[in-house]
Parts: sequence; C-alpha cells; structure tokens
Amino acid sequence: MQTTFDNALMGLRATGASVDIRDLVEFLARHGAEEGKLLATY
Ligand SMILES: [Fe+2]
Repeated sequence: MQTTFDNALMGLRATGASVDIRDLVEFLARHGAEEGKLLATY
C-alpha cells in the first residue's frame, strides 16, 4: 500500500500536479496507513 502511494506521489510531482491534488493523495496515503494499523489489530 505504502509503495503504491509513494509511486503515485512521485508521479504527481514529476508531472507538476497541483498542490490540491498532491495534498489529496497525501491524505489518502495517511488514511490508508492509519486504517491499516487499525485493521491489523482486529
Ligand atoms: Fe478507509
């Protein structure tokens, strides 16, 4: 999961994506990481 978002963020930076789009992807990456930790406890 983390690698997928890391690759997405690298691609967004390389293509000059807007700050809003990069912020959204960073938010999704953070959410995925946090939710993954919670799910691992179940
Ligand atoms: Fe979720």
